[in-house]
Amino acid sequence: MNNKSNMMDDIVSLAKRRGFVYPSSEIYGGLANSWDFGPLGVELKNNIKQLWWTINVHQHSDIYGLDAGILMNRKVWKASGHEEDFNDPLVECKKCHKRFRHNELKKSSCPSCGGTLTKPQQFNMMFRTHAGAVEDDSNLVYLRPETAQGIFVDFKRVVDSFSPKLPFGIAQIGKAFRNEITPGNFIFRTREFEQMEIEYFVRKQEWEKWFAYWEKEMKKWTKAIGLNAKAVHFIEVPAKKRAHYSKKTVDIEFDFPFGRKELYGLAYRGDFDLKAHQTESGESLVFTDPKTNEKMIPHVIEPSLGVERTMLAVLISAYKQDSKRTWLKLPVALAPYKAAVFPLVRNKPKLTKKARSVFEQLLGSSLGPVAWDDRGNIGKRYMVQDEIGTPSCITIDYDTLEDDTVTVRDRNTTKQERVKISELEVFLSEQHKK
Ligand code: GAP
Repeated sequence: MNNKSNMMDDIVSLAKRRGFVYPSSEIYGGLANSWDFGPLGVELKNNIKQLWWTINVHQHSDIYGLDAGILMNRKVWKASGHEEDFNDPLVECKKCHKRFRHNELKKSSCPSCGGTLTKPQQFNMMFRTHAGAVEDDSNLVYLRPETAQGIFVDFKRVVDSFSPKLPFGIAQIGKAFRNEITPGNFIFRTREFEQMEIEYFVRKQEWEKWFAYWEKEMKKWTKAIGLNAKAVHFIEVPAKKRAHYSKKTVDIEFDFPFGRKELYGLAYRGDFDLKAHQTESGESLVFTDPKTNEKMIPHVIEPSLGVERTMLAVLISAYKQDSKRTWLKLPVALAPYKAAVFPLVRNKPKLTKKARSVFEQLLGSSLGPVAWDDRGNIGKRYMVQDEIGTPSCITIDYDTLEDDTVTVRDRNTTKQERVKISELEVFLSEQHKK
């Protein structure tokens, strides 16, 4: 068995080797703490986002989807308070000029060279750029640091199009950017990442009920993605440490190999954002209940989830090792491939032909992505599929040519069963429900 720091090294190595995560711009020496998602990483990430969308948008008739732009009018960030308050207190070493987050320092001197540090100074974490040819303040725009604000500024449009009743939500998945001073721990904290957020609009007097509801939903989500309940902790954030907009926040923390850290946040944002945008824009964001005609600015509960942090927690939870093998015990919904098909040996045209026909039958089914592998020996192929979390491996051998049955091997138990090709799809879909 692995200790915790080895486990992180092993996961990083597996993720790079097997095509989940690559260092960004690697042929140019990389870009620190920036990552690309390889063929299996993009599948895993998309599966995480798809599962979240299915559960929260498709299975919640009161939640509407949205895909707002990354670039928005600068006034959005004035109103939201980010231009003023989205700061990290930083200290700078007077000798080597490296900067550090004040609240993460354990010593009063520079952790890098031992030099004297300046007093903490506020540093705004939003990335700035300019829209158009002229680089002046009049066309300054920010890369959004959270997806939430797109939801608040499109609130009126959604209400006008769909006339929802309270409570209702708007959900969005998309990129966010923060000029983090201390990114790191692989894909845990990066400057470019994706969020999955819901703004759930409620009556003021009902916020506690809906906060409790979303706490439960987030617990269910951590279970659905295979996180061990014992490694997940719901911790209320003390008032002093809450974001500027929040009246109550629960951090959902996870036991990462590098310590217990924030995985997600659940915040009660009150009516802070809608009111602020109403004031800054001059547009009424008052909601009129279509049934009672009651007028109000709704209050908001916000479940906020990082996609890459989810991916890391999923990989850590799924990573299993014993004396014989390493495997990713991914929930089937998240596995990049749902099955792999092999001919027992290569270069036997009859076996290959039969195996290709089974492979193509499964590709055309509702099972999901299926891998083909005829390299090396069968043991090596099992090893690769275990490491990438493929739930079922199907081998076509000489008996198949006689009786139209194949061997199906289960990733978690390594147990093998003989199954008729005509019953394969039903067998796999039953097995994948377990
Ligand atoms: N709209 C609320 C909001 O953005 P947050 O706690 O700052 O709240 C929410 O961020 C989630 O986004 C975090 O819990 C984490 O999962 C993810 N996240 C935030 N900063 C991140 C970063 N630099 N890298 C990766 N994920 C990040």
